[in-house]
Amino acid sequence: MKAIDIRNKYLNFFKQHGHTVIPSAPLIPENDPSVLFTTAGMQPLVPYLLGETHPAGTRLTNYQKCVRTVDIDEVGDNRHLTYFEMLGNWSLGDYFKQESIQMSYEFLTKELQIPTEKIYVTCFKGDADCPKDELSAECWKKAGIPESHIYFYGKDDNWWIAGDEGPCGPDTEMFYDTGKPACSSDCQPSCDCGKYVEIWNNVFMEYYKNAEGKYTKLSKQNVDTGLGLERMAMLLQGKETPYDTEIFAPIMKKLEELQKIDDIQSRRIIAEHLRSSMMIISDGGRPSNIDRGYILRRLIRRMIRHMNKLQINLDEIKTLIEINTNNLKEMYPDLEKNQETIEQVILEEKNKFIKTLSHGEKEFAKEIEKAKQQGKNKIDGTIVFHLYDTYGFPPEVTKELAEENQMEVDMQGFEKLFKEHQEKSRQGSEQKFKGGLADQNENTIAYHTATHLLHQALKIVLGDHVKQSGSNITTERLRFDFTHPQKMTKEEIEKVENLVNEQIQKDLQVKCEEMSYEDAKKSGAIGLFTDKYGDKVKVYTIGDFSKEICGGPHVTHTGDMGKFKIKKEESSSSGIRRIKAVLIKE
Ligand code: SER
Repeated sequence: MKAIDIRNKYLNFFKQHGHTVIPSAPLIPENDPSVLFTTAGMQPLVPYLLGETHPAGTRLTNYQKCVRTVDIDEVGDNRHLTYFEMLGNWSLGDYFKQESIQMSYEFLTKELQIPTEKIYVTCFKGDADCPKDELSAECWKKAGIPESHIYFYGKDDNWWIAGDEGPCGPDTEMFYDTGKPACSSDCQPSCDCGKYVEIWNNVFMEYYKNAEGKYTKLSKQNVDTGLGLERMAMLLQGKETPYDTEIFAPIMKKLEELQKIDDIQSRRIIAEHLRSSMMIISDGGRPSNIDRGYILRRLIRRMIRHMNKLQINLDEIKTLIEINTNNLKEMYPDLEKNQETIEQVILEEKNKFIKTLSHGEKEFAKEIEKAKQQGKNKIDGTIVFHLYDTYGFPPEVTKELAEENQMEVDMQGFEKLFKEHQEKSRQGSEQKFKGGLADQNENTIAYHTATHLLHQALKIVLGDHVKQSGSNITTERLRFDFTHPQKMTKEEIEKVENLVNEQIQKDLQVKCEEMSYEDAKKSGAIGLFTDKYGDKVKVYTIGDFSKEICGGPHVTHTGDMGKFKIKKEESSSSGIRRIKAVLIKE
């Protein structure tokens, strides 16, 4: 069964069982700076799992685009992926263990036609915080799983929480027996020899763990489940790795044709990192030196390093992107819509990287020599950081180069320096942000309102892909950064100016309302800097023209703002444009 068919079956099945299909949230979490990427289907649903009412009801299902980078070093083996799709269904205070388990069993055995003998399940064995999950085991038995296929494990295996704090609870996991021989007489689902593969996880969220590690009962009992699509496709197709499924097959084949040196690990890394990068860019991510931008940079650069390793001409990147777009557009139509941007961003990053690559490799060779002369077998963290900071070498690349020279690298030392560096840049940007709004007077307030008008006008003229990525206001001008792949034309600039000026001339009323973040989102407000879900936010509406979540302050009417003029439109970083504009008082 193809991945897309599994996805459709899943959504249909849960729809038939009273669930509303909700869209996948973007990979880049909206208004949640605490995480880099969406890592699970439950993540965008946290406010609802904590008790807020979801507009689509108490039974939800979706497919969710996810990126997890903790295992980035493992990519290239037969199972780790940085990008994957998670199918999920949720009960928000609706059904609990019994129905959830019954539906999972039915889906696996009836819809996917997995024979019961191939299914093993695990349940929570209980500890001081929470009792043994006898009920789940009972439900499995009732559904049709024999007792000999039910195992009990502790918190390490059968408890789910995202991070250290948040909604959590015991889970029950489903495993697929690949039929491979047992590695030992004690081989069981928790064993990672490859005989048993985890396919689905149903979390019974009934607790909240706070920062001090205390567990309290949630107001509602929820269910959160997650099924990894690529893995399921691999198993149902009887393949050994996700790279052998239709998701990766065309790109793997092309890489085999293009390579001059044969290395399956490198081919997988290229294929995997390219798909992840394309998905991240399609959702608005751009390479940079911090946070999510840096992850994207690492993915692209590591892919390029491995293309070099296989001696594949880097001009072929375009072909590879094309193959992926064609192959994946049915699953992700946005890839086709954003193909041009994706290509531009990746090619620009490639050009940046090749400029520094040869210098960096020379520098690296020197360091290896030095270390060897000193009788060391480890490269210092400071050197890994220097290669990163000066030459843009992702640490994985340095590590791989070192390993090719039988050397290790001091990753911990690198991590420490990297964190210090990130902290500095973060403080810097907070400073900048504060600086931008600190000085509030009549002029800056008008510029602030003009920024909202500009944002909306850009969306109208250039398209909905326009997203604010920065803003800075002084008494003399506004500066606005936004995602857009190319230079604006003269006509586009004029149109935007005219649109903004029309709104100013209409003397529109600016209204401020306070509401919950969720209501704000529902009302169609553009969401920007909010810290936490559930907080009350202010929504500023300018006539019928613009609606944005914002702390203010703003003018009460647009009439006296002056004439809006764009002074400059330039590139700010790759895929990000910058406008400087003024309000001229007549
Ligand atoms: N949140 C759980 C997981 O990620 C179930 O979706 O496994």
